[in-house]
Amino acid sequence: MAATLTAWTIRSYGAPDRLAPVQRPMPTPGPTEILIRIRASAVTRADGMMRAGRPRFARAFLGFRRPRKDLSGTGLSGEVIAVGAQVRRFAVGDAVFGEAGLNFGANASHICLDENGVLMHKPAALSHEDAAVMCDGPLTSLNFLQNVARLVPGERVLILGGSGSLGSAAVQIAAAMGADVTASCSTRNVELVASLGADRVIDYTKQDPLAAPDRYDVIYDTLGITTFRKARQSLAQNGRYVCPVLSLGLLLAMLRTSAFGQRKARFSATGLLKPEILRPMLAKLIKMNTLGKLEPVIERVYPLDDLIAAHEHMESGHKRGNIVVV
Ligand SMILES: NC(=O)c1ccc[n+]([C@@H]2O[C@H](COP(=O)([O-])OP(=O)(O)OC[C@H]3O[C@@H](n4cnc5c(N)ncnc54)[C@H](OP(=O)(O)O)[C@@H]3O)[C@@H](O)[C@H]2O)c1
Repeated sequence: MAATLTAWTIRSYGAPDRLAPVQRPMPTPGPTEILIRIRASAVTRADGMMRAGRPRFARAFLGFRRPRKDLSGTGLSGEVIAVGAQVRRFAVGDAVFGEAGLNFGANASHICLDENGVLMHKPAALSHEDAAVMCDGPLTSLNFLQNVARLVPGERVLILGGSGSLGSAAVQIAAAMGADVTASCSTRNVELVASLGADRVIDYTKQDPLAAPDRYDVIYDTLGITTFRKARQSLAQNGRYVCPVLSLGLLLAMLRTSAFGQRKARFSATGLLKPEILRPMLAKLIKMNTLGKLEPVIERVYPLDDLIAAHEHMESGHKRGNIVVV
């Protein structure tokens, strides 16, 4: 009998129950591809958006009526079990992690990816679960703090949403970059966010983080909780409001502040950056992890068979850090 892999298909845009398990023929790696046996994969807010086909304008890239690439999942970790004839960076037996990007199909037993994509060797000390989420919160928050906000040591940063995937990584990365870190979260997450290295934690159920007279050099709004207009009053001169959730309001604020004013609004689509830009950033994250400065927060680990339940929890908007399927 021919070998098969197990994956999850998105039958049509919609709720988590649109996901269905499928068997597909095991691919043979092309000349520059590697075949990976997946040990762990991430279940992210971005994966939920792909599944739901939202925001609707994203369907121009994903497919208008249904997803053009119908498999679920992007972040993964596993080991190489076959390589193409021209593969140079990896060998059979190597532990690797990274992301499938717009190829999708990471919530699966196996995947074939080009060695020149966003793939890295996995250090033995990094678990497959931790490695699988590196391309979501950690990579995105490093991109936003280092490249988009251009945070420098000693600056004051406010992280809105310090307990999510992006926020829990951002608190640790900003602290490692030598910033003075304030983060917001709900009562149940105050202890966690303080333990990640925040100098101050604001419980948003008791206090509006933007109501205090404090001024910040950077406001990183990990969830699109507020707007540039509202955050402006809490920005220092030359302050930057950076937000990974694109909206028309943010787009207009970016256009306006690129030409006028000292306070700026900025966005970036991290997953669309070139692998040549993302790989050195992943190397930096590995170094931070090795030095004990960055530990991904994993809230729940589900079996791959329970991907629908994992998506339902991810979409609650109340997950703590990251969710993984194994
Ligand atoms: N542009 C990019 O490159 C990029 C890349 C990746 C992701 N994203 C986007 O980034 C966004 C964030 O993703 P994520 O995975 O970090 O989210 P998430 O993990 O789902 O966020 C959930 C967390 O947010 C907290 N929270 C909810 N409302 C809050 C509020 N008003 N103030 C403070 N904390 C609040 C929740 O805690 P409580 O329930 O206790 O409040 C929970 O811990 C998503 O929209 C995703 O699509 C963008």
